[in-house]
Amino acid sequence: MPIVLDCDPGHDDAIALLLALASPEVELLGVTTTYGNQTLEKTTANALRVLELAGRTDVPVAAGADRPLVRELAVAAHVHGDSGLDGPVLPAPTTRPIEDDAVTFTAGVVAEAAIPVTLVPVGPLTNVARVIERTGGEGIEGIVLMGGAIAEGNVTPAAEFNAWADPEAAQAVFASGLPVTMIGLDVTHRAVTTPEIQGRLRSTGAIGTFVADLVDFFTVYHRETYGWDGAPIHDAVAVASLIDPSLVTTTRCNVEVELESELCRGRTVVDRWRRTDRPPNAHVGVDLDTARFFSLLTERIARLDA
Ligand code: RIB
Ligand code: CA
Repeated sequence: MPIVLDCDPGHDDAIALLLALASPEVELLGVTTTYGNQTLEKTTANALRVLELAGRTDVPVAAGADRPLVRELAVAAHVHGDSGLDGPVLPAPTTRPIEDDAVTFTAGVVAEAAIPVTLVPVGPLTNVARVIERTGGEGIEGIVLMGGAIAEGNVTPAAEFNAWADPEAAQAVFASGLPVTMIGLDVTHRAVTTPEIQGRLRSTGAIGTFVADLVDFFTVYHRETYGWDGAPIHDAVAVASLIDPSLVTTTRCNVEVELESELCRGRTVVDRWRRTDRPPNAHVGVDLDTARFFSLLTERIARLDA
């Protein structure tokens, strides 16, 4: 399955990228970057660093949006640190992004691909909204996004960060008419690591140890906020759902994004029980097979050190 990963590395983005690289079920045609967990400059450098760590500088990186469509820029440095990938030290990248911006690159990829391409956004949806506008959806198989929540949010009580950061972009994606799968917090908060899982990762080798070290830092915020002894690997769940769709249970329903209210800005209003006549427009994740997810993650990360 050909994919483009749109990301804002970001600890869980980095792990999602490594999972994609290790999995033959997905053909990673390219990585595009966006502001989000940190500024565009930092998320782009982090994407380059992780590809270099994995020995995959052949994968093109195209930088995208440095701010939302209309909202003010806000980054999640309180979660991911000043570099956006605090914790284990990675050298500065020796490679650079390609000349084309993310939207031009992705539009070109979907136009030239032999089979339709799945877009996998795991950050704010600004780039993907612009790709849909540029292409009209032609050549896009679907969109499997990490974002949103049926229940509580994480950046506000009402909203999940990726949807909140650029709610207009999120609404455009859900209203696009393309097949959309929403991997939200209801699912990703079931993908919280444990010290035992970190131990399994460390035992796989250098890259597994890097992943476990990322989790150490990512856990700091989650321990302070939720009292957890681990961190939710949000973005890797989106990639894992492509590798093994049976890992995530979804239900088809309508999703709309709140744009007017400041209190509920960016809330994904998921009509899970068909209380309205709004037509279903997304497959929304409602459950995760946590044990099999982490078995897949550790087994695939081990392949990167083989
Ligand atoms: O709310 C979690 C999402 O926001 C994840 O994609 C994380 O990387 C941040 O981008
Ligand atoms: Ca992300």
